[in-house]
Amino acid sequence: MSHKSSAQIRQEFLDFFKSKQHLPVPSAPVAPKDDPTLLFTNAGMNQFKPIFLGEQSGYKKEGETWQRVVDSQRCIRVSGKHNDLEEVGRDTYHHTLFEMLGNWSFGDYFKREAIRWAWELLVDEWGLEPDRLYATVFGGDEDDGLPVDEESIELWKSETGIEEDHILKFGKKDNFWEMGETGPCGPCSEVHVDLRPDEERSGKPGAELVNMDDPKVMEIWNLVFIQFNRQADGSLEKLPAQHVDTGMGFERMCAVLQQKTSNYDTDLFEPLLNKIGDLAGVIYGNEEQVDIAMRVIADHIRAVSFSIADGVSPGNDGRGYVVRRILRRAIRYGWDRLELKEPFFHKLVPVLAEQFSEVFPVLIQQQEYVVNVIRSEEQSFLNTLGQGIELFEEMTRESDRISGAEAFKLHDTYGFPIDLTQLMARERGVEVDQEGFRQLMQKQKDRARAAGTFTVDQSTQEEWITVVDTEDFEFTGYDELMSEARIKALRPAGDQKALILDRTPFYAESGGQVADTGVISNGDEHLRVLDVQPSPDGHVHIVDKLPENPEGTWEAMVDGERRREIRKHHSATHLVHAALKQVLGDHVAQKGSLVDEHHLRFDFSHFEQITPDELARIEEIVNDRIQENIVRTEEREVPIEEARERGATMLFGEKYGDRVRVISFDPDYSMELCGGTHVDATGEIGYFRFVGESSAAAGVRRIEAKVGKSADHLLRSEHELIGQIRREIGQSEDLVHDIRQLKEDRKSLERELEQLQHQQSLSQLNELFERATELEGDIRLVRGEIPHADMDLLKQLGYEALEKAGESTVTILGARDEEEGKVYVAAAVSRDLISERNLKAGDLVGRIGQLLGGGGGGQPNLATAGGRKPEKLNEVLDRLPSIITEVLNQS
Ligand code: ALA
Repeated sequence: MSHKSSAQIRQEFLDFFKSKQHLPVPSAPVAPKDDPTLLFTNAGMNQFKPIFLGEQSGYKKEGETWQRVVDSQRCIRVSGKHNDLEEVGRDTYHHTLFEMLGNWSFGDYFKREAIRWAWELLVDEWGLEPDRLYATVFGGDEDDGLPVDEESIELWKSETGIEEDHILKFGKKDNFWEMGETGPCGPCSEVHVDLRPDEERSGKPGAELVNMDDPKVMEIWNLVFIQFNRQADGSLEKLPAQHVDTGMGFERMCAVLQQKTSNYDTDLFEPLLNKIGDLAGVIYGNEEQVDIAMRVIADHIRAVSFSIADGVSPGNDGRGYVVRRILRRAIRYGWDRLELKEPFFHKLVPVLAEQFSEVFPVLIQQQEYVVNVIRSEEQSFLNTLGQGIELFEEMTRESDRISGAEAFKLHDTYGFPIDLTQLMARERGVEVDQEGFRQLMQKQKDRARAAGTFTVDQSTQEEWITVVDTEDFEFTGYDELMSEARIKALRPAGDQKALILDRTPFYAESGGQVADTGVISNGDEHLRVLDVQPSPDGHVHIVDKLPENPEGTWEAMVDGERRREIRKHHSATHLVHAALKQVLGDHVAQKGSLVDEHHLRFDFSHFEQITPDELARIEEIVNDRIQENIVRTEEREVPIEEARERGATMLFGEKYGDRVRVISFDPDYSMELCGGTHVDATGEIGYFRFVGESSAAAGVRRIEAKVGKSADHLLRSEHELIGQIRREIGQSEDLVHDIRQLKEDRKSLERELEQLQHQQSLSQLNELFERATELEGDIRLVRGEIPHADMDLLKQLGYEALEKAGESTVTILGARDEEEGKVYVAAAVSRDLISERNLKAGDLVGRIGQLLGGGGGGQPNLATAGGRKPEKLNEVLDRLPSIITEVLNQS
């Protein structure tokens, strides 16, 4: 067995099923969008639920519907039916977030292929020893009225040759898979592997350890045969079709293939453990308590980071609360066992983001945001944790019970979630009065309600609610990306929940520049800023949710990475504006502009298309300015008259105030009135590249371009494309020449092929002539089928026949296209038959067309027919003598 990297293993899984006609599809987010029955994505099949339920016919992509797909899904199992949280870190093979590799059939193949392919991949491709594998099957269930899955037992025997005593029956708990309390479900068949050394194996058969929580005999792949929908009343409803849903535990599979006894020893966790080791000054593998803490942290950063990146920030209820609990569990282990008393958890995000940049790019894309959220959550938890732990120690010093009031105090004052208190209590062997705690929580809620503390009234949809009564407003975003602020007002309107702050670094959409995004947080609550619009009272921040308690100081943090890309595009717009003037002339005036993190679009007056030469010159000028690294000058309060005199570019017809902001990159090159955000010096822009030139309106041209990271991506993907082309073509000195050559070669091959086909059909025609039959009245009948011919070819052959035939000859040629369900016929009649006997090709094909389920017509000497009954062609050809007689008699 070779040692593959985890990336290789994942890829081989995908490739294996690709070779079985499966479409590779992306993972869904860990927070299911439209499924209220589910807190987190807990299985690969979640995103396909509508397909299983028959609401969708298959997986849709670019207008096509696929019945087979394959993917790696990031899953979280910390709540509901599938909950592994307590195990995580203490053992070496459970995780909060794990990858599930799966292949799916949507009403397509079923048990046989699923079983055969599982075996083929595990044994033939990956080389697992058949003797170490066990297959479990569903042993039936009386309550559900379901029998033993005998079919799967038979298939395991016939498709894989696995030993009979390696096929084991289990009940509903192990071998009937359900997504949740309700939803798609069905009997399943699991593959387990026995990793014990041979001595141990000979002592006790692996069959006795399957499903016994032995870390060395474990499930690696579950094949579910989805057939039912579990109803809310507990009954099973049969689904319209049968499906396959499989899930392989990726981390476990990596451990197996890399011959490790712990998932944490694989290359999936190594980088994280190393980083934690560096931060804490410890080494993994020396001391059990330290190792457990390191595993908890390495595991939890994955669930926390991907949850936040997928839109679930730590919070006080629902999904947010779960994420908060996981995060706090990690921090507490760090504090307790690794002496990590300063925020450290967020420092693991870059390691993870890098590791997953290809598989789950969502994290690297939002890295800065995720780091910010974690850092601020960590900070606020750490502040109270130390005091809380001291208090907890005091509480448990003399007593073996934590009262409801004590648990409430830990919760209320020190931010200990109740299950953290429980966890610590369990470790010290003391009890917690949960019921007392619950009553106090309820009382607190009631008090808050009675006191009329801030609660959002959903009935006042469009209304603003004042929080802090002040006129103050300041935009700080030219100078900083994070500002402390107070919430002035909020608006609880549906999906347009919004806040106004007294200060904000968030840029509001204007002047063609898109709004910033980011987060507003007070350490306890994190509000995601989705959009920002200008208003007379201050910027309106559209947020994903409203704060429970809006009072106090908040930190408003812009997503800095995104902002950097936006400002690169904005500054590049100024540079290209000046270059356009320089190359095309002074008539160039801005008509519109759009700037975001991916590209810039600029509309301007100009009457003709810009030539490729001009575009190349403009591109070169802009890139020269970038390389000169010109420092930006920003003047904020320039009197408008002065700006005009100095020749700053202004938009015609735009209303400006008395004082304006002027942005220059070398005043002799570019000076514009502008409220947007810009790079400090042009070098930051990196590289400028046009991606489009077109007409926007009469007399208005539009250019589009990319700079910064997105230009870099573009160049790299072009480079990769050329690489691919090179690999396809093979050795090549001159790609363009070789591609032209290929096209020419193809053309001449096509010509040759055509000629050959023509020759072949001519010889077929000759054969038909040799087998001609004589009809009554001295008429020679040439007839037959020309395989693969189309109408054109039949017609050509008809002309050939006329030339060859001489006198008194009727030629009828047919061809079939079974796939299209079509049939073609050509008829040729020699002159003498037309003039002397009045036999016309047109009349013949008219009759023939009828018999073939169509119609036809043409000249007296050559006519064609088409029909929809190809299966009738032979019969019609046989019946031609009588058809000809019939037509002769009519005329
Ligand atoms: N849906 C199945 C599971 O999660 C494959 O185990």
